[in-house]
Amino acid sequence: MGESSAKLFSACGKVILLGEHAVVHGENALAASIGRSAEASAAWADGESGALHLSDGRDTWPVDVGSELDQAFRALLAALAVDRPVSVHAHVRIPTRAGLGSSAAIGVAIARAIAGLQERAADLSRDTLAATAWERVFHGNPSGVDVAVAVHGGCLSFSRRDGATPVPIASVLSLCLVQSGPRASTRAMVDAATAYLRAQPDGGAAILSAVRDAVGAGTSAVERGDDTGLGNAMNANQRVLRQWQLSTPAIDTLCDAARMAGALGAKLTGAGGGGSVIALAPGRERNVLDAWRGLGFEGMVVEAGVAG
Ligand code: MEV
Repeated sequence: MGESSAKLFSACGKVILLGEHAVVHGENALAASIGRSAEASAAWADGESGALHLSDGRDTWPVDVGSELDQAFRALLAALAVDRPVSVHAHVRIPTRAGLGSSAAIGVAIARAIAGLQERAADLSRDTLAATAWERVFHGNPSGVDVAVAVHGGCLSFSRRDGATPVPIASVLSLCLVQSGPRASTRAMVDAATAYLRAQPDGGAAILSAVRDAVGAGTSAVERGDDTGLGNAMNANQRVLRQWQLSTPAIDTLCDAARMAGALGAKLTGAGGGGSVIALAPGRERNVLDAWRGLGFEGMVVEAGVAG
């Protein structure tokens, strides 16, 4: 394909600030884009059927025919009614398997690249539909929050019923982020979280209600620019996630260390069972990264809520 001349299309990764897992069960989540993205370019392929190639910036490799990624690619092509072989190159600049929405971002970037090739005008609903078909192959029954952030960017409130609602924020949020260890599969964590709720005498109503309170308080705090309020909501949400058995000893240790180093709030983000931890520590980011480094974990600062 004429890779050098093909236009690049991008979509951003995300952090869930509040409400992961509960969002699968109909609650609102508060999520924000991060300043890291996936990019894709597309070209019509000659002759044979098209293919997806992935790149990490150094190496490029073809996705194996019949693999999960290939199946997701075919589902996305079907959703876009692509009837000619197409060759796509995707480059991921988001840490993968970390709960940062890399797969949704790749799906949206690919959908945009193909729509560009088809000379179709930008269409957020079409991007959402195509990337949702792609995501279903990996996650079974995703809530849609990852795709919503990849499509819209910025900070948003999301529920299955109402979709994405932009949440105005005064300025981007500076978050400390660290990988607590390898992440369990989202599908497995969602299944475990659902089983846990069902096993509760109240069907999980108390857990969902506690998350609802944290998300409500945190969303108002973000709108007011109240970092302390957001930090408190993150801590409250993490307590529930821990009770819900979605945290791990490493996540708990990293959250405690962040708070000791001055963070207003800290929690897991994404599916849990490993993966990423975020901490809100305005002006004390360096202290948090130093505390994590002291425990043998290398973190970074990411900007969240950058407009898409
Ligand atoms: C994954 O980023 C977030 C979960 O809530 C799953 C979902 O919303 O589909 C764990």
